[in-house]
Amino acid sequence: MKFEDIKKVGVCGAGSMGSGIIQICAAAGYDVQVLEVSEEAWSRGKKLIEKSLGRLLKKEKITQEEYNNIINRIKFSTDVSEFKDVDFVVEAVFEKIEVKKETYNKLDSVLKDDVIVATNTSSLCITELSSLTNRPEKFIGMHFFNPVPMMKLVEIIPAYQTDEKTIEIAMKFAEKIGKSPVKCTDTPGFIVNRLLVPMFLEATRMVEEGVATPEDIDKAMKLGAGMPMGPCELMDFTGVEISYFVGNIFYEYTKNPYYTPPHLMRKMVNAGFLGRKTGKGFYDYSKKD
Ligand SMILES: NC(=O)c1ccc[n+]([C@@H]2O[C@H](COP(=O)([O-])OP(=O)(O)OC[C@H]3O[C@@H](n4cnc5c(N)ncnc54)[C@H](O)[C@@H]3O)[C@@H](O)[C@H]2O)c1
Repeated sequence: MKFEDIKKVGVCGAGSMGSGIIQICAAAGYDVQVLEVSEEAWSRGKKLIEKSLGRLLKKEKITQEEYNNIINRIKFSTDVSEFKDVDFVVEAVFEKIEVKKETYNKLDSVLKDDVIVATNTSSLCITELSSLTNRPEKFIGMHFFNPVPMMKLVEIIPAYQTDEKTIEIAMKFAEKIGKSPVKCTDTPGFIVNRLLVPMFLEATRMVEEGVATPEDIDKAMKLGAGMPMGPCELMDFTGVEISYFVGNIFYEYTKNPYYTPPHLMRKMVNAGFLGRKTGKGFYDYSKKD
């Protein structure tokens, strides 16, 4: 398969990430076939896409005709056999190895032999996932960032077995859908989370020890390090449980106690103080608009 032969993209999962990936693939002119677990799940994904495109329409970044064309290029199904003629797959199902495995087994039964499968996993080992497919040399990590239509970066992570042609096609595909790719080996956290998560853990420890308030930590990193959002704000934005989960994964891989999430983070997760989405995290959002 050559990059130019890619006409139809399959996306597994239409959640927070999948819906964004579906949108940008359709906006780049690809026909997009979506696989979801139920009609209810794909209706949720469709609504997310309509909302996101609606915002672009309102801001006059796209026309009504473009809006309609993008929506019309997307087909939803719960039946994997609809993937028989897709040319490239992006998998964005739940971050659970059993769910990924079940999805790859289904894909293996219908995909054409030369189709590349890219996973959007944040924390699982790409090489381990590649071994669950019948095409490890055509398997690769493509790590998008949330919200997908806004965030320019994609990390491209070859598995140990991934061939050069697959890397080249994945890089070109990322550019075609409007992203800037960077390449990274298969290591925990890839580039961005390897740098961000230790900072999140340390910021939480600083709050726990009473070194500074979340407000002052955020102010310091914005004014002193040029960050657009401070670490506490950013954890609240992405979900405190994600930092907790990724910290634990780092610890599992490295056995370095530095990555053990602090008690405060564990308590916040157990209390449901996950950030913006639950109304409370390092900050209280219940009173804000
Ligand atoms: N949320 C983030 O900020 C973020 C960022 C980068 C990468 N990721 C990764 O993206 C992937 C998806 O994360 P998300 O946040 O979009 O999750 P999500 O829970 O919002 O969406 C997952 C979707 O997958 C669907 N699904 C589950 N099993 C399926 C199956 N067998 N076949 C088809 N669809 C199935 C679910 O119905 C759901 O709609 C994960 O691997 C995650 O690590 C997430």
